[in-house]
Amino acid sequence: MIKFIESQQGWAFSFAPKDIHCILWGLGGFLVDTRDLPDDALHVLNRLNAPPRLIAHLTLVHDVTTEILKSLDAQWQNLPLDKNAVLFGAATHDIGKVLHPDELVGPGRNHEQDGPGLLEQMGIPADRSRFARTHGTWKQEATLALEDIIVALADTCWKGKRDEELESNLASRIAGLQGIKEWEAFIALDEIVARIAAHAEERLAWQSQFNR
Ligand SMILES: [Fe+2]
Repeated sequence: MIKFIESQQGWAFSFAPKDIHCILWGLGGFLVDTRDLPDDALHVLNRLNAPPRLIAHLTLVHDVTTEILKSLDAQWQNLPLDKNAVLFGAATHDIGKVLHPDELVGPGRNHEQDGPGLLEQMGIPADRSRFARTHGTWKQEATLALEDIIVALADTCWKGKRDEELESNLASRIAGLQGIKEWEAFIALDEIVARIAAHAEERLAWQSQFNR
Protein backbone atom coordinates (compact mmCIF):
# COMPACT_ATOMS: atom_id res chain seq x y z
CA MET A 1 0.00 0.00 0.00
CA ILE A 2 1.34 3.42 -0.87
CA LYS A 3 0.03 6.28 1.19
CA PHE A 4 0.71 9.92 0.48
CA ILE A 5 -0.26 11.79 3.60
CA GLU A 6 -0.23 15.50 4.17
CA SER A 7 0.96 16.59 7.57
CA GLN A 8 1.47 20.06 9.03
CA GLN A 9 5.13 19.89 8.11
CA GLY A 10 4.60 18.63 4.58
CA TRP A 11 4.41 15.25 2.94
CA ALA A 12 4.86 11.84 4.38
CA PHE A 13 4.55 8.83 2.19
CA SER A 14 5.17 5.22 2.81
CA PHE A 15 5.34 2.19 0.59
CA ALA A 16 4.90 -1.51 0.78
CA PRO A 17 6.86 -3.74 0.68
CA LYS A 18 7.61 -2.44 4.12
CA ASP A 19 11.31 -1.92 3.43
CA ILE A 20 10.63 1.30 1.53
CA HIS A 21 9.75 4.26 3.69
CA CYS A 22 10.25 7.82 2.70
CA ILE A 23 9.35 10.98 4.48
CA LEU A 24 9.32 14.26 2.65
CA TRP A 25 9.09 17.58 4.36
CA GLY A 26 8.09 20.07 1.76
CA LEU A 27 5.30 22.37 0.86
CA GLY A 28 1.75 21.52 1.89
CA GLY A 29 -0.62 20.05 -0.62
CA PHE A 30 -3.66 17.88 -0.86
CA LEU A 31 -4.23 14.26 -0.16
CA VAL A 32 -4.00 11.98 -3.16
CA ASP A 33 -5.25 8.46 -2.72
CA THR A 34 -3.51 6.23 -5.22
CA ARG A 35 -3.51 2.56 -6.03
CA ASP A 36 -0.63 0.33 -5.03
CA LEU A 37 2.29 -0.10 -7.38
CA PRO A 38 2.96 -3.78 -8.16
CA ASP A 39 5.32 -5.44 -5.67
CA ASP A 40 7.89 -6.35 -8.33
CA ALA A 41 8.04 -2.71 -9.47
CA LEU A 42 8.36 -1.46 -5.88
CA HIS A 43 11.18 -3.90 -5.30
CA VAL A 44 13.12 -2.47 -8.27
CA LEU A 45 12.43 1.13 -7.22
CA ASN A 46 13.63 0.35 -3.73
CA ARG A 47 16.84 -1.32 -4.91
CA LEU A 48 17.61 1.61 -7.20
CA ASN A 49 16.81 4.15 -4.49
CA ALA A 50 14.50 5.93 -6.94
CA PRO A 51 13.96 9.65 -6.25
CA PRO A 52 10.59 10.75 -4.76
CA ARG A 53 9.57 12.71 -7.87
CA LEU A 54 10.04 9.62 -10.02
CA ILE A 55 8.04 7.45 -7.63
CA ALA A 56 5.28 10.08 -7.53
CA HIS A 57 5.15 10.22 -11.35
CA LEU A 58 5.15 6.43 -11.73
CA THR A 59 2.38 6.22 -9.13
CA LEU A 60 0.22 8.64 -11.11
CA VAL A 61 0.80 6.95 -14.47
CA HIS A 62 0.18 3.52 -12.94
CA ASP A 63 -3.04 4.84 -11.43
CA VAL A 64 -4.20 6.24 -14.76
CA THR A 65 -3.28 2.96 -16.45
CA THR A 66 -5.50 1.10 -13.99
CA GLU A 67 -8.36 3.47 -14.92
CA ILE A 68 -7.75 2.90 -18.64
CA LEU A 69 -7.74 -0.89 -18.21
CA LYS A 70 -10.97 -0.78 -16.17
CA SER A 71 -12.64 1.41 -18.80
CA LEU A 72 -11.45 -0.77 -21.69
CA ASP A 73 -12.82 -3.82 -19.86
CA ALA A 74 -16.19 -2.16 -19.34
CA GLN A 75 -16.40 -1.15 -23.00
CA TRP A 76 -14.88 -4.17 -24.75
CA GLN A 77 -14.79 -7.48 -22.94
CA ASN A 78 -12.14 -10.02 -23.76
CA LEU A 79 -9.48 -7.76 -25.26
CA PRO A 80 -6.41 -10.01 -25.40
CA LEU A 81 -4.20 -8.12 -22.97
CA ASP A 82 -1.49 -8.97 -20.48
CA LYS A 83 -2.72 -6.59 -17.79
CA ASN A 84 0.08 -7.42 -15.37
CA ALA A 85 2.64 -6.52 -18.02
CA VAL A 86 0.84 -3.22 -18.72
CA LEU A 87 0.75 -2.33 -15.02
CA PHE A 88 4.39 -3.24 -14.50
CA GLY A 89 5.30 -1.22 -17.59
CA ALA A 90 3.40 1.81 -16.29
CA ALA A 91 5.00 1.48 -12.85
CA THR A 92 8.55 1.42 -14.24
CA HIS A 93 8.36 3.19 -17.63
CA ASP A 94 10.57 6.13 -16.61
CA ILE A 95 13.05 4.07 -14.60
CA GLY A 96 15.86 5.29 -16.90
CA LYS A 97 15.53 8.67 -15.17
CA VAL A 98 17.39 7.14 -12.23
CA LEU A 99 20.41 7.37 -14.55
CA HIS A 100 19.35 10.72 -16.04
CA PRO A 101 17.84 12.67 -13.11
CA ASP A 102 17.93 15.93 -15.10
CA GLU A 103 15.19 14.38 -17.26
CA LEU A 104 12.92 14.25 -14.20
CA VAL A 105 12.51 18.01 -14.33
CA GLY A 106 13.54 18.85 -17.90
CA PRO A 107 13.37 17.45 -21.42
CA GLY A 108 15.51 14.56 -22.63
CA ARG A 109 15.17 11.07 -24.03
CA ASN A 110 18.30 9.33 -22.79
CA HIS A 111 16.17 7.57 -20.19
CA GLU A 112 14.28 5.77 -22.96
CA GLN A 113 17.46 4.21 -24.30
CA ASP A 114 18.97 3.32 -20.93
CA GLY A 115 15.84 2.28 -19.02
CA PRO A 116 15.45 -1.28 -20.37
CA GLY A 117 19.10 -2.17 -19.67
CA LEU A 118 18.78 -0.91 -16.11
CA LEU A 119 15.73 -3.10 -15.50
CA GLU A 120 17.47 -6.08 -17.07
CA GLN A 121 20.38 -5.59 -14.66
CA MET A 122 17.77 -5.98 -11.91
CA GLY A 123 16.71 -9.32 -13.38
CA ILE A 124 13.64 -8.09 -15.26
CA PRO A 125 13.14 -9.95 -18.57
CA ALA A 126 13.17 -8.05 -21.87
CA ASP A 127 9.43 -8.57 -22.42
CA ARG A 128 8.83 -6.46 -19.30
CA SER A 129 11.75 -4.03 -19.57
CA ARG A 130 10.77 -2.87 -23.06
CA PHE A 131 8.14 -0.45 -21.74
CA ALA A 132 10.97 1.71 -20.40
CA ARG A 133 11.77 2.41 -24.06
CA THR A 134 8.50 2.03 -25.95
CA HIS A 135 6.54 4.60 -23.90
CA GLY A 136 8.65 7.17 -25.76
CA THR A 137 9.49 5.43 -29.04
CA TRP A 138 6.06 4.04 -29.99
CA LYS A 139 5.94 6.26 -33.10
CA GLN A 140 9.18 4.84 -34.43
CA GLU A 141 8.60 1.18 -33.61
CA ALA A 142 6.67 -0.75 -36.24
CA THR A 143 5.76 -3.84 -34.27
CA LEU A 144 4.42 -2.92 -30.89
CA ALA A 145 1.80 -4.69 -28.82
CA LEU A 146 -1.45 -3.26 -27.52
CA GLU A 147 0.17 -3.23 -24.09
CA ASP A 148 2.87 -0.75 -25.17
CA ILE A 149 0.32 1.62 -26.67
CA ILE A 150 -1.72 1.64 -23.46
CA VAL A 151 1.33 2.59 -21.36
CA ALA A 152 2.22 5.34 -23.85
CA LEU A 153 -1.37 6.61 -23.70
CA ALA A 154 -1.39 6.68 -19.89
CA ASP A 155 1.94 8.55 -19.90
CA THR A 156 0.37 11.13 -22.21
CA CYS A 157 -3.16 11.70 -20.89
CA TRP A 158 -2.32 11.75 -17.16
CA LYS A 159 -1.31 15.41 -17.64
CA GLY A 160 -4.29 16.24 -19.85
CA LYS A 161 -2.38 15.91 -23.12
CA ARG A 162 -4.25 14.39 -26.03
CA ASP A 163 -2.45 12.75 -28.95
CA GLU A 164 -4.70 11.92 -31.86
CA GLU A 165 -2.15 9.64 -33.53
CA LEU A 166 -1.72 7.60 -30.36
CA GLU A 167 -5.45 7.35 -29.71
CA SER A 168 -6.10 6.40 -33.37
CA ASN A 169 -3.43 3.74 -33.14
CA LEU A 170 -5.15 2.19 -30.11
CA ALA A 171 -8.64 2.59 -31.64
CA SER A 172 -7.58 0.84 -34.83
CA ARG A 173 -6.12 -2.11 -32.90
CA ILE A 174 -9.26 -2.42 -30.77
CA ALA A 175 -11.49 -2.18 -33.85
CA GLY A 176 -9.54 -5.00 -35.49
CA LEU A 177 -9.78 -7.20 -32.40
CA GLN A 178 -13.46 -6.50 -31.77
CA GLY A 179 -14.63 -6.52 -35.38
CA ILE A 180 -16.07 -3.01 -35.14
CA LYS A 181 -15.56 0.17 -37.15
CA GLU A 182 -12.49 2.20 -36.27
CA TRP A 183 -14.55 5.36 -35.75
CA GLU A 184 -16.74 3.55 -33.23
CA ALA A 185 -13.70 2.51 -31.26
CA PHE A 186 -12.23 6.02 -31.56
CA ILE A 187 -15.36 7.70 -30.18
CA ALA A 188 -15.60 5.34 -27.22
CA LEU A 189 -11.89 5.74 -26.51
CA ASP A 190 -12.20 9.51 -26.80
CA GLU A 191 -14.76 9.48 -23.96
CA ILE A 192 -12.54 7.32 -21.79
CA VAL A 193 -9.46 9.51 -22.31
CA ALA A 194 -11.42 12.76 -21.87
CA ARG A 195 -12.76 11.54 -18.53
CA ILE A 196 -9.24 10.73 -17.32
CA ALA A 197 -7.66 13.90 -18.72
CA ALA A 198 -10.24 16.01 -16.88
CA HIS A 199 -8.38 15.38 -13.61
CA ALA A 200 -4.97 16.36 -14.98
CA GLU A 201 -4.65 19.60 -13.04
CA GLU A 202 -4.91 17.86 -9.67
CA ARG A 203 -2.27 15.34 -10.73
CA LEU A 204 0.08 18.01 -12.06
CA ALA A 205 -0.27 20.12 -8.93
CA TRP A 206 0.42 17.12 -6.74
CA GLN A 207 3.44 15.89 -8.70
CA SER A 208 4.92 19.38 -8.83
CA GLN A 209 5.47 19.29 -5.07
CA PHE A 210 8.09 16.59 -5.51
CA ASN A 211 10.86 18.63 -7.02
CA ARG A 212 13.58 16.02 -7.15
FE1 LIG B 1 6.40 9.30 -17.79
